[in-house]
Amino acid sequence: MKIVHAASELYPYMKTGGLADAVAAMAGALADNGHEVSVFLPGYRAVLEHKDAAGAVRKLRLKIEMGDQFLSGDIRVFSPRKNLEVYLICREEFFDRRAPYGNGERDFEDNSDRFVFFCKAVVETLRLADLQADVVHSHDWQAALLPLLLRESERRHRVTLALKTVFTIHNIAYQGLFPATTFARTNLPDELFHIDGLEYYSQVNYMKGGILFADRVTTVSPRYAREIQTPEFGCGLDGVAQTRADDIVGLLNGVDTAIWNPAVDTLLPARYSRAEMKGKEICRAELLKRVGMAANFTGPIFGIVARFADQKGIHLVLANRDFLLVENCRWVVLGSGDKRLEDEMRALAAEAPDKVVLVAKLDEAMSHLIEAGSDFFVMPSLFEPCGLNQMYSQVYGTVPIVSRVGGLADTVTDADEFPGTGTGLMCEPNAGSLGDALERALVLYADKRRYSAVQQRGMARDFSWKVAAAGYENLYREAL
Ligand code: ADP
Ligand code: GLC
Repeated sequence: MKIVHAASELYPYMKTGGLADAVAAMAGALADNGHEVSVFLPGYRAVLEHKDAAGAVRKLRLKIEMGDQFLSGDIRVFSPRKNLEVYLICREEFFDRRAPYGNGERDFEDNSDRFVFFCKAVVETLRLADLQADVVHSHDWQAALLPLLLRESERRHRVTLALKTVFTIHNIAYQGLFPATTFARTNLPDELFHIDGLEYYSQVNYMKGGILFADRVTTVSPRYAREIQTPEFGCGLDGVAQTRADDIVGLLNGVDTAIWNPAVDTLLPARYSRAEMKGKEICRAELLKRVGMAANFTGPIFGIVARFADQKGIHLVLANRDFLLVENCRWVVLGSGDKRLEDEMRALAAEAPDKVVLVAKLDEAMSHLIEAGSDFFVMPSLFEPCGLNQMYSQVYGTVPIVSRVGGLADTVTDADEFPGTGTGLMCEPNAGSLGDALERALVLYADKRRYSAVQQRGMARDFSWKVAAAGYENLYREAL
């Protein structure tokens, strides 16, 4: 099949979270299976500076209609691996920036324009380069207008640009909500600014467009597909999601085992596997050393790697301060984002610098070291569309402690509830229940044989993208 993806992040070129990993692994797995895959990505500064993009050739120069203006853009193309081409949508004014969505605290003010431009440029490229896609698959709000803009262009130009469109919701909490005045920039017919179209309480909602107008809609875990149809998790789009109930499926993300695999991970000081765990101890010692803690510590190390956003339940960890300060444990926290959460975590770490360390930055190598060197990985999310770190943790023999929501519930089994099959510990997304799970972690850690059995079962799980990619292939075929 000829498959076109469009997303605002793609590992290793631009990443703020799991979207980048998921799109890269999905595209890569489909390319490995022999499909012709293209991924469209904004030409951010970091991407253009990446060595892979050095040989990118300019393929097209576009003029994109935005309201009553025409804005130009360049399309550059490079191929990082067999069967895979990356199309960069370049326009300095919009994308020649360090960060993709905003500067620290605030989103960029022109985000509505930037991502309308992005989607329109994808459509124009499909048309002018005559790519003849079987499937156009877009991800999250930044690419959510693509299915609708594509059909509109087909109607206008009387051509077929894609046989089917697929839209994947990686996180329904981010919707791309903009003032009504921005609707004009889409050049869509006025009747689409309506309750059955992009209009949402007098604003424009991009994600709503993706849910309503794609031929198929997916979420990144089966449980999240059901959750988004409820008021508790739908973030106001539950009613919209319900209208597509028959066309929404949940396909679990996988783990890219070329990158996240302790047996080959070059970002670690030592490698290890189920059969040979010595390397994990070296990683543990290195982790303690790296954050300035004594290497002879024998109690449990709890690791956290997360965007600091309300979603991740960092405040639930902070609410368990007594546990962190009193129990015989160490905490290594890698994360940044919400300044209030950062400050509170920093204050906690300052109270007990020998026990708690916060590394408040983006650090890919450190994220691998925490996954490898910790004994437990803590992820008490309030909601979690899929979550990758709880899967990485199991692969790295680090027992995950997660809340029973979304993809976390689909990928972790509680070891107290299911002693024969458990791979982690689960709690409800509240401070008390997390505290209880942390206590259970101490008990588990004290029982070396049981801890090792839980660890080994996690490492034996197959989270590879083979399964996940087959799910998408079936979906595409069935849609076609
Ligand atoms: P989300 O996409 O909601 O942030 P996921 O669990 O799907 O959550 O993916 C998060 C990804 O981002 C993981 O690959 C994780 O290792 C990475 N990550 C998060 N924070 C950091 C950080 N501070 N430094 C490096 N990687 C990080
Ligand atoms: C989103 C979600 C996360 C998911 C990731 C990749 O960022 O928050 O749960 O794993 O997308 O699909």
